[in-house]
Formats: sequence, structure tokens, C-alpha cells
Amino acid sequence: MNVYDTTRMYDVMAPLGYTPSNSYEDADMVILNTCHIREKAEDKVFSDLGRVRLEKEKKKAGGEKMLIAVGGCVGQAEGAEIITRAPYVDMVFGSQSYHQLPEMVTKAIRDGGGVVELDFPQVQKFDLLPEVSNTQGVSAFLSVQEGCDKFCSFCVVPYTRGAEYSRPLAAVIYEASKLVDGGAKEITLLGQNVNAYHGEMTDGKTASLAYTIDALAQINGLERIRYITSHPRDMSDDLIAIHGSEKKLMPYLHLPVQAGSDEILKKMNRKHTRDFYFEIIEKLRKTRPDIALSCDFIVGFPSETDENFEDTMDLIRRVNYASAYSFKYSPRPGTPAATDENQVPELIKQERLARLQALIHEQQTTFNQSMVGKTLKVLFDREGKHNGQLLGKSEYMQSVYVKEIEGLRGKITDVKITGGFLNSLTGEVIN
Ligand code: 5AD
Ligand code: SF4
Repeated sequence: MNVYDTTRMYDVMAPLGYTPSNSYEDADMVILNTCHIREKAEDKVFSDLGRVRLEKEKKKAGGEKMLIAVGGCVGQAEGAEIITRAPYVDMVFGSQSYHQLPEMVTKAIRDGGGVVELDFPQVQKFDLLPEVSNTQGVSAFLSVQEGCDKFCSFCVVPYTRGAEYSRPLAAVIYEASKLVDGGAKEITLLGQNVNAYHGEMTDGKTASLAYTIDALAQINGLERIRYITSHPRDMSDDLIAIHGSEKKLMPYLHLPVQAGSDEILKKMNRKHTRDFYFEIIEKLRKTRPDIALSCDFIVGFPSETDENFEDTMDLIRRVNYASAYSFKYSPRPGTPAATDENQVPELIKQERLARLQALIHEQQTTFNQSMVGKTLKVLFDREGKHNGQLLGKSEYMQSVYVKEIEGLRGKITDVKITGGFLNSLTGEVIN
């Protein structure tokens, strides 16, 4: 979502003559669009700020100016504290106020910094943002939903992104058609709780995510639809069903469970059990047998025992994932779990994470190797790591590398898979 928000910041700043820059030397302003989800992400902001400060000083020595802004969820959570800790920061703003960037910049230039904007405005930023520009390319993001009302006991999102909000259906369809006009063939619908989406329609009813996917699939030129991130509780039957009926909806789902023990799930306030999760997976696989599943896991949540952790390992074995993200529990200020007395020692967290990741890597490699010899449709959207290589995504979200062929970039093409590895596939383009 921060990637999407950043493209919208470009749109907001374009009328003032600001364009994205690849180097500090050219930059009149540096915005760090930050993440607060775990302590590590937050620490990164301050180490990055140290580097940006040096660039600002270099400019100053040459008689030039550079504005430094901290936006996003760290901005939202820490506010003016950031300027106290790093006085060379000129502006701090939250994830709901970046539509006000032009005013903030004007104020920062006039007053020499000190701008803090953290409101959750009454009017949604989406209603005040300019139209999307066409900078996203063949694979584009589109935020349809923001915020969360679930309040998992470890998570800062309800506090930093605010209450759950869905954009009206017409706005979503309009933005999608603009992105497609600009060359997008794939759109990933975004939301912290994207499958809770319930967008207002002109007739006063609300559109579910499944209804929205169906509507978007009618757009000519749009070939792939994805959505991320979903909550098991909101995996409604119509959404599961559309995985079987809508060809443009990709056979991949990121469905975090966080833990495999009912005891821990309860303490996490996840509002679902492990059996409920298994039922959803079973329904999905019945509807779309080849669906690739992805997940998020937290290890070392307060009071997690060895036995609780083994339940998570068991869940992973039973589901069999195509990929997964996993994290050590990180206490976040203001969340209930942070003050739990039964924090798990760091060393135990490390051991559990290593074991869990080894299992996930095994499943991921097996999944990728199972593609060898098959023909997959790949959307090529960027250069590969090495010269003369192109990188694309399979329908199952795997990275696929091929030898570059002229005119291939931006297209969806059949690729015969020749190699399967932990994080990628290699293949040859079929004419
Ligand atoms: N500690 C560790 N991981 C966390 N996540 C969210 N909050 C925390 C936390 N306090 C993880 C969850 C979520 C993903 C985006 O980040 O797994 O799904
Ligand atoms: Fe955070 Fe997701 Fe739980 Fe919402 S549902 S509180 S975003 S982990």
C-alpha cells in the first residue's frame, strides 16, 4: 500500500512541478513513506534519516535547499516526536493526509519546517486526490479499502491506518479503467482487510469484493486481477466461488493465519480458529484446485509454548504453502499484547522462526520445482538481475526469468519452465 500511496504522492505533487527523481543530488525534497508494523521497520526510518540528513547538509554547503518529510504510519504514530529526535526533518504527516502535501510544502518553505499533519480528515483523501496518472506500467496497484476494525492484539494497523473504509464502487472502476488506459494489464486490489471491502453503489446498496472483481473483469484490456490482504473471517462464499468462475482472477491467495494454535489465536484476538481456517482452505481448493496459497506467521507471540508452536508447524504441513512471510513477534506501543507479562525470550523466537522458515522454504521449493516442464502464462514487467534477462510473474505469483526477446516486455506470454528454485523459476518463451 505504501507503494501505491507513493504513486499518489507523485500525482499530488505533479501540478507543482515536482517529478520523481532517482538521485539525492537532483532532489528538492525527500519523502520517507514509512511502515510501523514491526520495530525493525521503524528503526529503519531513523537509520535512513541519518543518511538523508547528510545529503541535506551537502546541499546546504552548496547553497541549495532540500526538504525532508516523514510520511506514512511512523509519521502517524510518532508525530512531532520525530522532529524532536531529528530536527532536520521539515514535515511529518500520516497516511490519511498526503493529499495535503502541496499545502504542507508551501508552509514548510515559508516557515522553515516544523509542519506536522496527523488528522484523520472527515473528507476521505480519495475524494480530494487528483486522477491517477499513468506511471504504474503493466502491473498496477489500486487501493480499494483502508484501515481495519479487527484489532488483533499485536497489530498497530487499526491505530495508524484508522477505521475500516471502502471506496465507492464507481471510484474503483473509474480508477481501474484509467490504469488500463495507461497500459495496465494486471491490477492488484489493495486493502489491509481487502476482502472486507463493501463499496457504496449508486443505488445505495453495497458491492462486495466478489461483485467488484466481477465488474472489473468486464474492462477490456484488463487481463489479470489480484487482491491482497485478506482475513479468514471475511472469506465469504461469493468470493470463494468467483475463484472458480472468473478467469481473470489469478489462482493465488494470500490468506494470513498468523498462528496454528487455538489458544494463541484467541489471545491474538484473531476471531477465528484453526479449524475455521482449514474449512476455508478446503472450500478454496474445491473451487480452484490449483490455487497457490500464501500466508503470514508470527512466532513467539506472548505466552506461546513449544506445543503452541508445534501446532503452527502442523498447520503449515497440513495446508502446504506456495510461499509465506514469517516474523518474530515485535511488541508495538499501544497494542494490548505489548504489555503482556509473558514475553517469549528472543533466542526462542529466533529458533522457532528458523525452524518455521526451513519448512516454508522446503514447501516453496517443492512448489516451484513442480512447475518444471509445464507451460505457464507470464506477464513480463521488468528487467532481470542479469543483462539480457527479463523478469515476469506467473499466474501463481512466481518470479520467472527468461532470456530477453525484443517486444516481450509488457506482454503476457507462454513460457516453458526449465528450472524451479526457492524464490524463482527459469524458462523459455514459446512462440
Ligand atoms: N509483530 C510481528 N509481526 C507482525 N505483523 C503485524 N504486527 C506484527 C507484530 N507486532 C505481521 C502479521 C501481518 C503482517 C503484515 O505483519 O503477520 O499479517
Ligand atoms: Fe492488523 Fe490484519 Fe489484524 Fe487488522 S486483521 S488488526 S490489519 S493483523
